[in-house]
Formats: sequence, structure tokens, C-alpha cells
Amino acid sequence: MVLRKDFLWGGATAANQCEGGFNEGGRGLANVDLIPTGEERRKIIRGQKKMFEFEDGYFYPAKEAIDMYHHYKEDIALFCEMGFNVYRLSIAWSRIFPNGDEQEPNEDGLKFYEDLFKECHRHGIEPLVTITHFDCPMHLIEEYGGWRNRKTIEFYERLCQVIFNRYKGLVKYWLTFNEINMILHAPFLGAGLYFEEGENQEQVKYQAAHHELVASALATKIAHEVDPENQVGCMLAAGEYYPYTPNPEDILLAQKRDRENYFFIDVQSRGAYPAYALKELEQKGIQITMESGDTELLKEHTVDFISFSYYSSRVASADPEVKKTAGNLFATVKNPYLKTSEWGWQIDPLGLRVTMNSLYDRYQKPLFIVENGLGAVDEPDKNGYVEDDYRIDYLAQHLQVMKDAVELDGVDLLGYTSWGCIDLVSAGTGEMKKRYGFIYVDRDNEGKGTLKRYKKKSFYWYKKVIATNGEDL
Ligand code: BG6
Repeated sequence: MVLRKDFLWGGATAANQCEGGFNEGGRGLANVDLIPTGEERRKIIRGQKKMFEFEDGYFYPAKEAIDMYHHYKEDIALFCEMGFNVYRLSIAWSRIFPNGDEQEPNEDGLKFYEDLFKECHRHGIEPLVTITHFDCPMHLIEEYGGWRNRKTIEFYERLCQVIFNRYKGLVKYWLTFNEINMILHAPFLGAGLYFEEGENQEQVKYQAAHHELVASALATKIAHEVDPENQVGCMLAAGEYYPYTPNPEDILLAQKRDRENYFFIDVQSRGAYPAYALKELEQKGIQITMESGDTELLKEHTVDFISFSYYSSRVASADPEVKKTAGNLFATVKNPYLKTSEWGWQIDPLGLRVTMNSLYDRYQKPLFIVENGLGAVDEPDKNGYVEDDYRIDYLAQHLQVMKDAVELDGVDLLGYTSWGCIDLVSAGTGEMKKRYGFIYVDRDNEGKGTLKRYKKKSFYWYKKVIATNGEDL
């Protein structure tokens, strides 16, 4: 057997992309509620356009999403039928603290997740909880500027205290920030950042990143104090940079690009700002304001495991004329050896092994693949059945490579949760049409549909994969 016996198999979602119920159970408004579909979306995500209230003529997909808020029992039963022993989900911060800065949490919100976690356990499923997956209460953004303000650490700390204590014994796997490096590319999503005209955006982003890194270390500290059983992970939007050519300029640039991403995990896992980052910040004239105790906190409370999403490798070229293609919230140079998805994302199974090796070499801590998958258009037949061989092919190739990294390279891997195990709203585009799931949800880009769930061909395939612990792909 290639994979460990207790390998964690499952799927992943995020509150804002599946829950809906945006104004139910006392939940407050969050940044993610106010991001519509359409052309403005990119600008808002990047903090270039302000839309702090719902405006006429726009569709806001997170408001209802796939309504998991009311369907979670049915959905968890389906996950169980596939054999999941782990389910990655995120907590909506504004369900627990509707404004973010209250002293006392919202009991309805706490109860909602308590029931959900209990439901998971009833089905033999271990929850893996992302504390923040691209969400921040709107009040914290309007009143304090989101993560640009150091006070946000305090509010996040309060959230952590509350959830670690309340869910003790129900949750033991935690991720502090989803794709923490996304703050550089999607700062409104990653940190509730909106930029004023003429502002030094890099300065704001790295200061906010420092606040998140301190908050992440604090969360790790508290999690371990509340329950030594707790395992805390960081989470990187991963994907190795390849040099476009053997030109040393390209090689150096690829290394630099990788470091822009590794910077976050270097701090979270090794416990200090790496030398290259300090130099880079200095050269850019960025000054990080730190408080006494920050350095020690970062040093002493490093993560237990390294989790990451992997959709593709990336390519770096020192030549600005080289052609680009789409990628996970940021564009990359086109790799002539790779095919792309319908959304232009490059498909590179072998790159997963390269990425796993780099991460394991660098950190020497267990890895956890918490996102991977293919966003594709599905065409259900009249019974709602989707024959998604393209998705099965994509996943089978990645799983084979994942096993190779374990078997041939010796990577210690805790588990695998495919992204969007049930169809949900796309983070990048807000579409429903970009589907990742084993379960089809009848809902379209305009929010029409019955919300009924249907098993796709991949549902039965994944069930077999799990049943054989990945032997039968
Ligand atoms: C990751 C995010 O960046 O990629 C998810 O953590 C997101 O939230 C996933 O959904 C896939 O991206 P998209 O844009 O296809 O939804």
C-alpha cells in the first residue's frame, strides 16, 4: 500500500462559495457577499474598486450560493456515501461575530457549525476547518480597513479563542488562512483591503500580511493551548515556477517568483522572515511596523503541517513579450508543453510532484493537499446525470502523481481533499458554470435552478478510489 493507512480522503469547500444564508441566523455582511459576477468582479477582488453595498443591476452569487446552509445534512450524507473521512470547510467569520469586533459571539452562528461538525462525526467524517477563507466582516473593513489595521489581529484572536474552545473535541485539524499568498493578487479577498488612489499598495499589502502572519502564529499558540490534539496548518496557493528557458535570467526570475509565495510559509513554518524577503522589502522601500513580541511569537508558534492548493505549475520569463495565459487569480507565462482547461488554466499533473518535492524539501513537515481539481462545464442529461470523464482523467492523473511523490520520493502526505467536491460558486469569476464537483447542483450563473443535487459519474469513481485507498484509479 502506497498511502498511509489513515490517509485522509475527502473534498473541500468554502463558506462563501457554498453556504448562502447570507442574512440568516444573525450573520453579518462580509466582503465576499458584496462581490458580484461580471466585469467589475476582478477589480473589486483586487481592491481597485469599492462596492461596499449591494447595487442594482448586479448579481451577487454568494448570497444564496448552493444554499448549503439548509442542505448540509443531505450534502454530508453524500460525502459519506463516497467514503470521505475528512471534509474541509470554512467558518464564515461574520456568522460567529457579525461585525467582527463584538465582545460576545453570536450563538446561532456557533450552533450552526456545532451541528454541522456533529453531523460530520455521525458520518465518520473529520472536519478540517479553514478559519478564514477569503472572508472578513464588512464592519471590520469599513471601520478599521480590514487587515491593514493591527487591531484586526485582536478580533481574529477572539474568534480563535471562541471556536477552539467551543469545538474542542469536534475539530482537530485547522488552517489559519486560506491561500495566504493570495493577499498579493486578490487583496480584497485575502485581507479586506481596498486601496485609495495613489497609495503604495505593496506597503499596505505587506503590512497586512504581517498582521495575518502574527494572527496565524497566535492562532497556532491558542489552538495548542486549548487542546494539544489540535493540528494547525498553513495554506499556500502552490504551483512551482518553471523557468521559461535555460537562460539564467529566467532561472533567477523563477526562483524569485517562487520566493514571493514561499515567503509566507517560510514565516509560518520556519518562524522568521527569511533573509531574501528582508532584502527585497528593503530594496522596495517597504517598512514593516512590528511590535515587540512579534518575532518571538512567530518563532515559537510554527505550524504542524503544510497544506496547499495545486491547480497548475507556473512559468517565469524575463522577456516581457512572452505570451501569458490565465491562472488561479493571476496570469502566468504560457507553457508550450501543457494543455489548458476551458478557463485557460494550464494542466500539469507532474507539476504536482515537483511542487510536493519542493515543499517537503523546504519544510520537512507533513503535507496536506487541500485543493486540486478541474473547473469545467458539465452537461447533465435529462435525469441530471453528468458523464464527466474529463474530470476523472484530470483527477486520476494528479492522484497517480501524488502517489509517486509518496512512494518514489518519500513525501509524508496526510491527505487529499479535492476542491469543490460539490459544485459551488467560482471564487475567481462568480460563475456556477465552472464546476468542480462529484455532485451536480442544479443552479446556473443567474441563480436559477432547483438546487437539487445529482451524482455525477465521478462520484462513483471517487468512491472506488477511496475504498481502495487510492490503489484503483
Ligand atoms: C482557490 C481558492 O484559489 O481556487 C478557492 O481557494 C477557489 O476558493 C479555487 O474556488 C478555484 O478557483 P475558481 O476561481 O475556479 O473558483
